Amino acid sequence: MAHDIRIAGTDLHFACEPGENILDAALKAGIEMPYSCRKGVCGNCAGGVVAGEVVSPPSEAKPAGKHLYCQCLPLSNVELAPAAWHRIDPSARKIFTVKVFRNTLASEDVSVLQLRLPTGTRAKFKAGQYLQVTLPDGSRRSYSMANPPHESDSLQLHIRHVPGGQFTQIVPRLAVGDTLQVELPFGNFKLREDSTAAMLCVVGGTGFAPVKSLLDDIAKKRVHRPVTLLWGGRDRRGLYLLSAVERWQKLLPGFTFLPVIEDAGDAEALGAFHGRLDDAIRAHCADLTGTEAYCCGAPAMVGAVRKAAQERGLDAQLFFSDVFVPGPAADL
Ligand code: FES
Repeated sequence: MAHDIRIAGTDLHFACEPGENILDAALKAGIEMPYSCRKGVCGNCAGGVVAGEVVSPPSEAKPAGKHLYCQCLPLSNVELAPAAWHRIDPSARKIFTVKVFRNTLASEDVSVLQLRLPTGTRAKFKAGQYLQVTLPDGSRRSYSMANPPHESDSLQLHIRHVPGGQFTQIVPRLAVGDTLQVELPFGNFKLREDSTAAMLCVVGGTGFAPVKSLLDDIAKKRVHRPVTLLWGGRDRRGLYLLSAVERWQKLLPGFTFLPVIEDAGDAEALGAFHGRLDDAIRAHCADLTGTEAYCCGAPAMVGAVRKAAQERGLDAQLFFSDVFVPGPAADL
């Protein structure tokens, strides 16, 4: 039997079918609440349950007194107190068959894949959102669009090769003209467009992709906000597209770049901060009061950066993250 899920203080409610988690049911009903991984790892979907009963597996990402909506199954009708919500149009998401028109190796283990939509079609998405690629066995993989939304006849993906990864091991062999099925847009990692606050962008490896889309978008729209970008990698190969950074240095007034590299030799050669991204924040960001942080990468990195940024005064509500978890995307 479906349960009725209400959002406290509103007249919004939606049905949650047996076996369905609360986040998926909300998205299906056109109500978006904060989320990223949909696998119980990032903690972005944490919110309150003020009435009713839910069950969820234990997770280190679950803050005390909150529930991870992507993991919660209702046992009764439930009333929620989410951190935020807004209405979306679920029918805005579309499936496209796209063609590879360029496939380059940006570093030893990162491919930049450029896909063309069918002639006359455009993909609608916001900078920072992601798509899902459907593999022949029906499983899906999630990748952020690295191109800005105005380049809507194509999609650029940055794909790190994961050893044994079902999709990533075939990516280097994709040839011009090969086709893939993709669905988009997903995700609510997006620029707060009504804000003029300074932006701190912190990315690890291919977490660069969604932030590239954001920064190309604000460059196109001539948005003048102070932007600091910290891009971290184990060695110099992790910073695989420095030409984009050089472009923003010319186009964005108030843009500052700090490369962060764990390998001592490469850090010295590049003039980068030697160490981890959270150490770089402690060393370089004296006061983050009023700043918005946009952070993308692996769960441990995002957690460490969140902690360091909050130590420097960042408001928890102004920390926006997209957490990359390898492997199949959570089922829709
Ligand atoms: S933990 Fe629920 S979206 Fe990541």
